[in-house]
Amino acid sequence: MREFEGKVVVVTGGNSGIGKAIASKFNAEGAKVAIFGRDQERLSATLSSLKDSIAVQGDVCNIGDLDNLFKTTKDQLGLIDTVIVNAGIGGKRHLSEVDEAFFDAIVNTNYKGAFFTAQRSLPSLNSPASILFISSIACHGGWPSHSVYSSSKAAVSMLARALSNDLVKEGVRVNAISPGYTDTPIFDSRKKSQPGLIEEREKKIPIGRFAQPREIADAAYFLSSAKAAYITGIDLVIDGGVLSQQDGSATQSPILPSK
Ligand SMILES: NC(=O)c1ccc[n+]([C@@H]2O[C@H](COP(=O)([O-])OP(=O)(O)OC[C@H]3O[C@@H](n4cnc5c(N)ncnc54)[C@H](OP(=O)(O)O)[C@@H]3O)[C@@H](O)[C@H]2O)c1
Repeated sequence: MREFEGKVVVVTGGNSGIGKAIASKFNAEGAKVAIFGRDQERLSATLSSLKDSIAVQGDVCNIGDLDNLFKTTKDQLGLIDTVIVNAGIGGKRHLSEVDEAFFDAIVNTNYKGAFFTAQRSLPSLNSPASILFISSIACHGGWPSHSVYSSSKAAVSMLARALSNDLVKEGVRVNAISPGYTDTPIFDSRKKSQPGLIEEREKKIPIGRFAQPREIADAAYFLSSAKAAYITGIDLVIDGGVLSQQDGSATQSPILPSK
């Protein structure tokens, strides 16, 4: 029997990119999945590729929508075994150009949304259960013009550590994954406005390419599974070696010239 046969998994932002790959991975392993996002068209398109699953439309910035997500999931699919707190938005601006609307959009989605997703899931969780946050390598290093995004993700990574303490007695493990550059629609607008940007970035990744969303999904699956029963409070960086570079900007060139 597949390990997640009949189990219930919620994925916020499950209608695109990393979240869609995670929903698909768990569903292929037998889970019933509830995907959540704002865009009804993409929710319906993603749902059509999933078995025994549901789509709930809503905004993580709205606590009422989160309550509806967890109530609907519990009523229609049963108690929840795994919550993937994935919904998030990017944004790049120099400190001098950050206005309140930009700050609020990122912090409300990435941090406040993540916090209340975890909190509002509690009454619907099974035991044991797992909560997994999708953070970012952007909170593990200094990137120019990323002060708002990176600090919102630093809060998310810290939530995994803090909540792992709060919830351990209830049998709930809490972890984070910090993906590096991953090929998803989050880069669509920048691919259009800056042709060649992706190829340029790839030269700075030791493994030489962006991650595929399914590579993040495989790790999300492992951390949520019984094989990770002793793992709680960690933040797993999956970045093709970016953070391990000595000065953070090494190219693929070998250190020693080949003869
Ligand atoms: N791609 C990367 O290189 C990378 C690297 C590190 C971390 N991450 C993180 O990975 C997560 C997924 O990103 P992605 O790359 O897969 O981007 P994506 O394809 O743009 O997906 C983002 C998802 O979040 C949902 N979402 C955004 N705001 C929402 C809101 N207010 N309420 C509900 N859902 C919302 C979107 O759905 P709707 O638009 O329908 O609401 C969408 O499903 C994000 O947290 C991102 O910060 C990505």
